[in-house]
Amino acid sequence: MIKHKLSYRKQKIFSGVAVFVFFLLILALRAFSTDYIETVDDPAFEKRIRPAVVFYHDDHNDRAGIDDCSVCHHVYENGIKTADMSVGMACSDCHMSGPAAAPDLIRVYHLQCRGCHLSEQAGPVTCGGCHKK
Ligand code: HEC
Ligand code: HEC
Ligand code: HEC
Ligand code: HEC
Repeated sequence: MIKHKLSYRKQKIFSGVAVFVFFLLILALRAFSTDYIETVDDPAFEKRIRPAVVFYHDDHNDRAGIDDCSVCHHVYENGIKTADMSVGMACSDCHMSGPAAAPDLIRVYHLQCRGCHLSEQAGPVTCGGCHKK
């Protein structure tokens, strides 16, 4: 009888832990979800000249068949690209040394996005193809 009671209590504890882990998992999935991203919206551009760039993050990467996050979220060491990722950082965190460096930030965005579209001959390469009204 006592043995049974104990195991019942253990069961309760276990289900409590299971519920807790479940909520942690949901939180983690929400934190890592990128499904909500529909445009590129780098905080470094205070005033934009062009309309926002359409970029359905997950959908884009699925359709383009890009599995390796470091293709875009890259890390360099001594000028050489490593296998590490800079997920969670804005491109401007590394590519914007000051307010005057905006042209360089635009340059690297265009180089990465348009550059791949050109070399793969897929995806938009005209201004209006990315900066959609
Ligand atoms: C084709 C380029 C590209 C690839 C591949 C890519 N991302 Fe992104 N990701 C971006 C861009 C651009 C943004 C910034 C969107 C914005 O400005 O709102 C971003 C934003 C994010 C953010 C949000 C960062 C924040 O601070 O809000 C996360 C998280 C993220 N990506 C994770 C990933 C993961 C995980 C992978 C691999 C499975 C991946 N990305 C692959 C281009 C890419
Ligand atoms: C953790 C810092 C870091 C982040 C975040 C980062 N980069 Fe880079 N990136 C570098 C470094 C370092 C280089 C090496 C060349 C250099 O110093 O500019 C580089 C090189 C590049 C190049 C080649 C430049 C050239 O002149 O050939 C492009 C294009 C580029 N990054 C685009 C991006 C884009 C777009 C994002 C955001 C999706 C991004 N980078 C995020 C650090 C970063
Ligand atoms: C490594 C290659 C690669 C990079 C980097 C890349 N793209 Fe693409 N992109 C593609 C391919 C491939 C397609 C065509 C996918 C298809 O067949 O539908 C595409 C399609 C698109 C489209 C058309 C609509 C869609 O979602 O399919 C848009 C818009 C787009 N890309 C924007 C961007 C932006 C903005 C960036 C930079 C943040 C970027 N891409 C970076 C490969 C890339
Ligand atoms: C392959 C996609 C792509 C193409 C093609 C493209 N851009 Fe962009 N451009 C981007 C991305 C991504 C950013 C960063 C957007 C952001 O964070 O707001 C950007 C940023 C900019 C910015 C700085 C933000 C602003 O609106 O002031 C300007 C200006 C700009 N682009 C002009 C152009 C012009 C002009 C052309 C045609 C010659 C062009 N772009 C073609 C993807 C593209």
